[in-house]
Amino acid sequence: MKDVPLIPADHWFFRNSLVVLNDPLAFFVNTFAEYGDIYNVNSNLYTIYVTANPKHIQEIMVSNKKDYAKSDDYKILKYSLGNGLLTSEGDFWKKQRRIAQPAFHRESMKKLLDIMIASTQKIVASWKEKTQVQLTDEMNFLTLDIVTKCLFGTELKTDYSKIQQAVTIENEYLAERIMTPFKPPFWVPTSKNRAYRKARAYSSSLILNIIKDRQENPSTHNDLLSMLMNAEDEDTGEKMSNQQLKDESITIFVAGHETTANALSWTFYLLTQHPDKLKILQQEIDTVLQDKPPTFQNLKELTYTQMVLEESMRLYPPAWTIVRKVAHETTMDGYLFKKDTRLILDVYMLHRHPDYWENPTAFEPERFESNQKKKRHKYAYIPFGAGQRMCIGNSFAMMEMKVVLTLLLQQFNLSLAPNAPEVVPEPLITLRPKNGILMDIRSR
Ligand code: HEM
Repeated sequence: MKDVPLIPADHWFFRNSLVVLNDPLAFFVNTFAEYGDIYNVNSNLYTIYVTANPKHIQEIMVSNKKDYAKSDDYKILKYSLGNGLLTSEGDFWKKQRRIAQPAFHRESMKKLLDIMIASTQKIVASWKEKTQVQLTDEMNFLTLDIVTKCLFGTELKTDYSKIQQAVTIENEYLAERIMTPFKPPFWVPTSKNRAYRKARAYSSSLILNIIKDRQENPSTHNDLLSMLMNAEDEDTGEKMSNQQLKDESITIFVAGHETTANALSWTFYLLTQHPDKLKILQQEIDTVLQDKPPTFQNLKELTYTQMVLEESMRLYPPAWTIVRKVAHETTMDGYLFKKDTRLILDVYMLHRHPDYWENPTAFEPERFESNQKKKRHKYAYIPFGAGQRMCIGNSFAMMEMKVVLTLLLQQFNLSLAPNAPEVVPEPLITLRPKNGILMDIRSR
C-alpha cells in the first residue's frame, strides 16, 4: 500500500491549516506543481487529501461511490436547505432525485425559455442607458431574477425582492460559516446569527405560503414549482410534502444562481481578452439568430457558443472544489483511505492538469469540438460534478447562459474598463472574480 504524499508543515501547531485557509487557490496551484495530483494537506484539524486526477475522480464519484459520502460542510448547508437534493443522502436522496428529475427534462426546459429571455431583455434595455456596468453585480441580479421566476412563475403575489433578499442573506451567512471553521455556534444570539435566523424563518414561511396558495387555487403554471408539485414517484405514485417542496425550492435558489452568474462573468471577461474568439462567436450568433432571440431549436445550433461556455468553465469552474469524506475504510489507486478522511476533488487543477490538457492555461474553445472531446479522459472535465450526484440543473444552466450571452452580445460590445481593478479569482464556495469586473459597454 502506498502513502499519500504528506506536504511539509508550514507551522508547528497549525501545520498547513492556516496557509490553506488564507489562500486556498495559491496553495492548490503551488502544491500540485511541486507534489503532483494527489497529496495529504497536513492539516491539524482533520486528515485531508486533495486529488486532481481524473482516474481518482472516476473511482470516488462513480466506480466505488458507495465508500464515499458528502462532507460535513453539507451539514451546515442543511440549516437552510433542509433535506433538499444537494444535502440529502441515501435512499431519501434517491427517491427525491427520481421525483424531481422530470422537472429538468428537455420538455420542461422548453417552457422556461421565454422567462429567461424576458428577464435578460430587461437587462438589455437597462444597459442601453449606460456606458459602464459592474458586470458581476449585473449577472448576479439577472440570474437571481431568472431562477426566481423559473421557480415561482411571473405572476407572483409576493414581492420577489423580499424572497431574494432573505435567500441572499442566508446564502452569504452559510458560505461564511463554511469558509471559517471557528465561529460561535448557530444558537448564540450574535447579530449575524439573529439576522440569519430571521431571514430563514421569513423565506420558509413565504415559500410555504406560495405552495399553500397554489394548492388552494390550482391553475396552470409553467414553472419549476408546479412541475415539482405535480411530480410523482413512478413506482409508488407518491408526491412531495409541502416541507420537502420548500426544501427543494430553496435548494434550487441557492444552487442555481451564483454558480451561473460566475460562469457568465468569467465568460464575458475571457471574451474581452480574446477578441479573435469573440469575433467567431459574434458571427455564429448573427448567422444563427438573425437579430432575433434564440428559439429552443436555435440553442442546439449555437455550437461555438456552447464551446466558449465549456472552455470558460474549464478555466474558471464555478464549483472549483467538490468535497467528500470516506464513509468506509477503502483503498483507491493503491492508497489506503481511512474512514472520515476528507477528500477535496480539486476541480480547478483537474481542469488544468498538463497530462490531460495541452497548453492548459490558454483559452481555446476549439478543444471542446466533439472529436477533441472524445479523445480526453471522461472525468478530466467535471464543471457540473460527476456520477449520480451530478448537477440536476446542468441543462437549465447551459440554456440560461446561452440566452444571456447571445442576447447581450447581439446588442453590445464589451471591454474591460481602463479603470477596472485587477481581475483575480476569489475561491469562496464558488470561484468568483474578487473585485468584480468593471466593463465599458457600447451598442453594436
Ligand atoms: C454554471 C452553473 C452551475 C454549476 C457550475 C453547477 C455545479 C454543480 C455541481 C458541481 C454539483 C455537484 C455537487 C456535488 O457533487 O457535491 C451540483 C449539484 C446540484 N446543482 Fe448545480 N450547478 C450549476 C447550476 C445549477 C442550476 C441552474 C440549478 C437549478 C436550477 C442547480 C441545481 C443543483 C442541484 C439541485 C444539485 C444537487 C443535485 C443532487 O445531488 O442530486 N445547479 N451543481
